[in-house]
Amino acid sequence: MPPSSTAAPARTSNISTTTSSSTASSSSSSSLSRISNIASHLAPASSTMASTTNFPADVVPQAPEDPLFGLMRAFRADESPDKMDLGIGAYRDDNGKPWVLPVVKKADEILRNNPDLNHEYAPIAGIQAFTSKSAELMFGADSPALKEGRATSIQTISGTGAVHLGALFLAKFYKGNRTVYVSNPTWANHHQIFNNVGLPTAQYPYFDKKTKGLDFEGMTQALREAPDRSVVLLHPCAHNPTGVDPTLDQWKELAAIIRQKNHFPFFDSAYQGFASGNLVRDAAAVRYFVEQGFELLLAQSFAKNFGLYGERAGCFHAITSPGPGAAETIARIASQLAILQRSEISNPPLYGARIASTVLNDPKLFAEWEENLATMSGRIISMRKALRSKLEELGTPGTWNHITDQIGMFSFTGLTEEQVLRLRNEAHVYMTKNGRISMAGLNTKNIDYFAKAVHKVVTTS
Ligand SMILES: Cc1ncc(COP(=O)(O)O)c(C=O)c1O
Repeated sequence: MPPSSTAAPARTSNISTTTSSSTASSSSSSSLSRISNIASHLAPASSTMASTTNFPADVVPQAPEDPLFGLMRAFRADESPDKMDLGIGAYRDDNGKPWVLPVVKKADEILRNNPDLNHEYAPIAGIQAFTSKSAELMFGADSPALKEGRATSIQTISGTGAVHLGALFLAKFYKGNRTVYVSNPTWANHHQIFNNVGLPTAQYPYFDKKTKGLDFEGMTQALREAPDRSVVLLHPCAHNPTGVDPTLDQWKELAAIIRQKNHFPFFDSAYQGFASGNLVRDAAAVRYFVEQGFELLLAQSFAKNFGLYGERAGCFHAITSPGPGAAETIARIASQLAILQRSEISNPPLYGARIASTVLNDPKLFAEWEENLATMSGRIISMRKALRSKLEELGTPGTWNHITDQIGMFSFTGLTEEQVLRLRNEAHVYMTKNGRISMAGLNTKNIDYFAKAVHKVVTTS
């Protein structure tokens, strides 16, 4: 029992003794002295309490602030009218404002006018109409895995929740090499999600600093050298943070190595449709692996492609390889996922999944969603072109083709940490220290300013 628990009753009895004797006295000075007496009893006791935590600093040290959220805080505190936020991975329109997709507004209207909707719990595995359409979106309606009944899907707290559920499942049941290989660099949260459930992470090379493209040699060599049956985390499109993706031919080579080494692929899909504007093209790598008969896991986020960031709509899918026992295997996996889900969140949230489900299940709304996706990806692609040509026009030292070669929300500019800090201090431009910019933060009004600021730090550093 902690010492504070034993101290408490002793204090109580002191107070009650003093209080009962106070009724026998009428003098105010003696009241005062009794109060100070009580205070002197309380003071040491409360300081004893403060020092008796179960969580002292050597056990629970102060954690560092999440760098991205720290950056956002610094941005908000900056009073310059020129300030630019290129840190956060959320789409902004040409006025630098968050964009509610028109199709999401329509779906919202439909939901609000539906008298049959209520706020009862969703099933543990989520809204079935949502999870089944999410699987079709990712794997294709004619996917062999779906047709043969060897896939299971469960609604999650957006992409983060899906990665976490997959990590938890692997931590409990995976008997291969439990080290999870992630790209260097990767979405920073990957490391802590896997480490938090006791799975260590290791890195495979990914970004080539010289070409600012893919280090395919390094990546394939590392996957060949990793112990057999390692878990390999892959970004199917619009790699975060680099914006660099393998070509389809490179994906095929990767699949061959993963097959040969018996590695276990875990895809984290956060940008389908947002990368190229084409939902099918952005799913090509995943569909290739499924066609090849891999057993795999996939985390699917609807944060970016629906602009439903805060609504936490996502899905986790497990697919097992074809074979006589596949249906039974997937049923067992589904049953265990349901138990994990129950103990983690019980029931997934309704609103975001209802919005996405309304769109995914209505062909007209679906077509409109594709147009909205083209609007977002098209604006980002045009900003890539504009930034590259402005830097080239200015004669900024270095090559800038990587800006248009890279894809999706982010660009790995190749700016050094020193240049990034100068941009922040001298030009009020906020980006992560690794030189990543969110392309969505650029627009026709601020792109000149940004290009000139980059030119200045590159030429004077
Ligand atoms: C690679 C990757 N995975 C997963 C996520 C998860 O996002 P969310 O939990 O908002 O769906 C993100 C978001 O930035 C991401 O970039």
